[in-house]
Amino acid sequence: MMDKEEAAIQRSCFASDNNAGVHPEILASIYKVNSGHVLAYGDDPFTKTAIKQVQKEFGTDGEVFFVFNGTGANVSALATVTRPFQAIICPRTAHINVDECSSPERFIGCKLIDVDAPYGKITPAAIDPFLSSLGDEHQAQPKVVSITQATELGTVYRPEEIRILADYVHRHGMFLHMDGARLANAAAFLGCSLRDLTGDCGVDMLSFGGTKNGLMYGEAVIFFDQVLARDYRYTRKQTTQLASKMRYIAVQFERLLEHELWRENALHANRMAALLADLVRELPDLSIAYPVEANAVFVKMPKESLERLRSEFFFYITEDSGQLARWMTSFDTREEDVRRFGEAVAESLRE
Ligand SMILES: Cc1ncc(COP(=O)(O)O)c(C=O)c1O
Repeated sequence: MMDKEEAAIQRSCFASDNNAGVHPEILASIYKVNSGHVLAYGDDPFTKTAIKQVQKEFGTDGEVFFVFNGTGANVSALATVTRPFQAIICPRTAHINVDECSSPERFIGCKLIDVDAPYGKITPAAIDPFLSSLGDEHQAQPKVVSITQATELGTVYRPEEIRILADYVHRHGMFLHMDGARLANAAAFLGCSLRDLTGDCGVDMLSFGGTKNGLMYGEAVIFFDQVLARDYRYTRKQTTQLASKMRYIAVQFERLLEHELWRENALHANRMAALLADLVRELPDLSIAYPVEANAVFVKMPKESLERLRSEFFFYITEDSGQLARWMTSFDTREEDVRRFGEAVAESLRE
């Protein structure tokens, strides 16, 4: 018999990578720095070391800052490079557009222009019609294009796609921001480095996620051009993202990057998603909605089957039709849970 705790874990283990715990090595790293007093707000040796390590990993002498969470990383990074009459272009599915309770609009004060993005990815062609406002004093002026890697739909931009976007954005005097809440999953999928998908492709600012890949909490904001970071110290504080006990975020990043723990965690999550997709792909009345490239599997299934399944497992339905479900895996997803879930999916379609 499963105990209550085990049953609760199983119930929610495909709902979100945020539902996972903390990687034991990350937890150990927090414990390791937990003695004595050091200067607060990032003036400590652990933060300085972690910043250097992030710079090395991303091949940049740009500026690195640690913050509490992903929404805060996005909002503070975007706020520091924009003015209130400007606009931020993003895919319709972007987290900043649909899942941040309009904090970008409130705290950045800019208009968000959301554009069509098949599979969660935008292209210059989709952005083009929105640039006719450039130079028109009656309209908000696009200043940043924000993309998400891996996307909210579990797909991954290839380096050439990012490079093309970056060139396009720069040609029009704008910046390219990347919401990299799951950058590790994208790099693991492509077998490349973190820098291959960011600074080396022309990304200007990055919200680099840690929480979804084994951290307790914490994200890093990276400006590949130091000039863009000029006012960020103040913006970070004003947007409430300056941690006093910074060493605990910093040391988690140091451990995540050491020996590429980020890749190990992300590869595992991706493999579990690929396995789940393989287990259900051939089932009748089920189709996989988007290419499974990172750690998300989106499926279309009859509403009644999804409801039956949801009485046993919690996960999100992402469309009003009630027929599109999102299943997510994480660094600690167990293969036996994936197999059990795959069987439950098959069962729900049989009933
Ligand atoms: C793509 C993406 N960006 C940003 C975030 C925001 O993270 P947080 O919940 O830490 O604010 C999330 C969280 O789910 C996300 O999926």
